[in-house]
Amino acid sequence: MAKILVTGGLGFIGSHTVVELQNEGFEVVIIDNLSNSSEDVLDRITSITGIKPLFEKLDLKEKSKVQSFFEKHSDIQGVIHFAASKAVGESVENPLLYYENNINTLVYVLQEMQQLETANFIFSSSCTVYGQADVMPITEDAPVKKAESPYGNTKQIGEEIIQDVCNINSDFNGIALRYFNPIGAHEGAKIGELPIGVPQNLVPFITQTAIGLREQLSVFGDDYPTHDGTCIRDYIHVVDLAKAHVVALQRLLVKKNTSNYETFNIGTGKGSSVLDVIKSFQKVSGQKLNYKIADRRAGDVIEAYANTEKANNILGWKSQSSLDDALASAWKWEQNIRKNS
Ligand code: UD1
Repeated sequence: MAKILVTGGLGFIGSHTVVELQNEGFEVVIIDNLSNSSEDVLDRITSITGIKPLFEKLDLKEKSKVQSFFEKHSDIQGVIHFAASKAVGESVENPLLYYENNINTLVYVLQEMQQLETANFIFSSSCTVYGQADVMPITEDAPVKKAESPYGNTKQIGEEIIQDVCNINSDFNGIALRYFNPIGAHEGAKIGELPIGVPQNLVPFITQTAIGLREQLSVFGDDYPTHDGTCIRDYIHVVDLAKAHVVALQRLLVKKNTSNYETFNIGTGKGSSVLDVIKSFQKVSGQKLNYKIADRRAGDVIEAYANTEKANNILGWKSQSSLDDALASAWKWEQNIRKNS
């Protein structure tokens, strides 16, 4: 049973990935600094899988602690690296915080991994690296465009750093997964997304409006050149996304990778507009959503959805859940957390 480190393993995507890793029989060690997560997620994971993952509260910015952690766990056979800050607006306000949180920490983890016998690394990247791509659906060969925010830049720089390490070390294997828009929650609604403060992302804003925590959703722009004028994204169920990490890791562990640095788009391949999402949500929840059309939001691209052929054919992974399923799970989660809070 291989031992896998999941950094940021108590966060939204991290926690779902820990569950899928445990379901596949991996031993999981979680590092999290709890800056955007809570320790009770550990119990929630345990109640789903029946296995309590090892957990160390550790801030990856503390280099010496990262060193001691890896000395103690020198038998780690793979690392899935989620720990990072991810609020686009905050990154514009405080870029150095983002470079420190997302880049310094990545460097410290990679430095320690170079000492390991086997270095298998999965990086949490984003479709944001493509900016407004010229061709839809977006393939992995699409050019990486100038980042719209320091957050986006940390994903681009992160990928470059890993690539540079792979270039000089043929024993170092990296895969960058470029996520499209992760939404939804685990089926039993024991884990899900817990945004702090006012949600910036569409789906948590929708569910919080429907439950009465927010007055009204603003749809940012209805004059885009799309079928209904609102922006198009590729919304992927977080459980499907979590499974992609397990498949990518297994590819490295059994040495199936054809190059020691690979990138894959992880999306559904289907684009949905903001109004499509609202319609789907209303259908699956039976709730009438209070929304209005507002001005465009600065920095939004018109459309972004994935060509998933590379992930389908090479990773052997395909998303399974529909938009309806994902939104139904997000709604169940929202109702569940409010009931218990
Ligand atoms: C955003 C980030 C992206 C990050 C991702 C993480 C930007 C520009 N991009 O993606 O880098 O990886 O989150 O999940 O911030 N919308 C509304 N009303 C709202 C909120 C959103 O109409 O209250 C619309 C947006 O205009 C957009 C769509 O919903 O068209 C999705 O927005 P969001 O969930 O914030 O994701 P992205 O902007 O695609």
